[in-house]
Amino acid sequence: MTRTDKNPESGRPVAVSVRGLVKHFGETKALDGVDLDVHEGTVLGVLGPNGAGKTTLVRCLSTLITPDAGQAVVAGYDVVRQPRQLRRVIGLTGQYASVDEKLSGRENLYLIGRLLDLSRKEARSRADALLERFSLTDAATRPARTYSGGMRRRLDLAASMIGRPHVLYLDEPTTGLDPRTRNEVWAEVTHMVREGVTVLLTTQYMEEAEQLASELTVIDRGRVIANGGIDELKAKVGGRTLRIRPADPLQLHPLAQALEQHRPGGPVPAVPTESGEVLVPIVSDDQLTAVVAEVTARGVTIGSISVELPSLDEVFLSLTGEKASAPQQAAPELEEVAV
Ligand SMILES: Nc1ncnc2c1ncn2[C@@H]1O[C@H](COP(=O)(O)OP(=O)(O)O)[C@@H](O)[C@H]1O
Ligand SMILES: [Mg+2]
Repeated sequence: MTRTDKNPESGRPVAVSVRGLVKHFGETKALDGVDLDVHEGTVLGVLGPNGAGKTTLVRCLSTLITPDAGQAVVAGYDVVRQPRQLRRVIGLTGQYASVDEKLSGRENLYLIGRLLDLSRKEARSRADALLERFSLTDAATRPARTYSGGMRRRLDLAASMIGRPHVLYLDEPTTGLDPRTRNEVWAEVTHMVREGVTVLLTTQYMEEAEQLASELTVIDRGRVIANGGIDELKAKVGGRTLRIRPADPLQLHPLAQALEQHRPGGPVPAVPTESGEVLVPIVSDDQLTAVVAEVTARGVTIGSISVELPSLDEVFLSLTGEKASAPQQAAPELEEVAV
C-alpha cells in the first residue's frame, strides 16, 4: 500500500525509516517484512493486537535485538551498523515500568543520567528539570513504589527524556491504565510532541491512535496490513458508522440515494440495509453534522439514529477480510447523537 499526498505530514523529512524488517523466533514470524516511516515531529501510531510484533519492532529499533533482514534507519543512523550513535538519539518507554521502585524519583532520573554519561552536575540538573516538567517535584524524594500509577508513568516518560531524545518509542504506554491516568499520559505525550520530539507509539487501541497519532501503520502477525493518514484510513475502514432508520420504511432507499448524490461533507457511500437502516461511514464530526442536517432538510422523520465506533476487530476485518489474530473488544460501543 502506498501513502497518498493528501496527508500533509507525509511531506516532512523522515526520522525513522524501516524497510523489509524481518525478525523470526524459531517458527514465529514476529516481523515478516515491515515497512514504515515516521516523519519528523509527528506521532506514528503502530496499531496491532497482542502478538502482532509491536514490541519486537521497538526492540529492533532500539538495538536491543538484531533484525534477521531488512533495514532500519533512525535519525540517520542504521540500527545494525551504528547502534552506539543510534542509542544516543532515542528514548524508550516500555510496556512495563522501567524505574527502580526502591529509589526515589530523583535518584532514578539521576542514575539514568549518569548511565547516559552526563556529569554529576548535569545529571542532577537534568533530573530536577524533568521532575519539575512532569509535576513530580513534590514527590521527588519519595521511593517510586509509593507513587500512584499516573506518577509512575510520568516518571517513566521523564526517564525516557533524560538524554533529550530526538526519537521516542512508546510501547503500549497506557495498556492496563485507568482512564484518568491514560488521559494524563496522553496529555504528556502531546506536550512532548509540541516540544519537537518524534514519536513511534505502539498501541492496541484505535482510540489511543486517534488521540495521539497523525499517521497510522496497522500490523498483524508481523506484517503491515494498512498505513496512511488517520483520516484517510478511517475513511477506508469506515471509521465510525452512522446508522439512520427513517420512521417511514418507504423513505429508506430514497434517503440513501439522496445522501449519495448530495455528498454532504464529502463522498457518502450510503448503504441501505435489509433491516431498514441507512449506514453511512463517517470520517469527521463535520461530516456527521452535515449528513444529519441533510436528512433533516429533506423532511425525513428519523425513527432512530446512532453512531457506531468500530472495534479493533472490525477494523481488522475490514482491512484483511479476516478476524484479528487475537480478538479484542466485545460489542461495538454506541454513542447517542443529539439531532
Ligand atoms: N524472545 C522471543 N522468543 C520467542 N518468541 C517471541 C519472542 N519475542 C516475541 N516473540 C513472539 O513474537 C510474536 C510477536 O511478539 P511481540 O513483538 O511481543 O508482539 P506485541 O508486542 O505486538 O504483542 C509473538 O508471537 C511472540 O510470542
Ligand atoms: Mg508488546
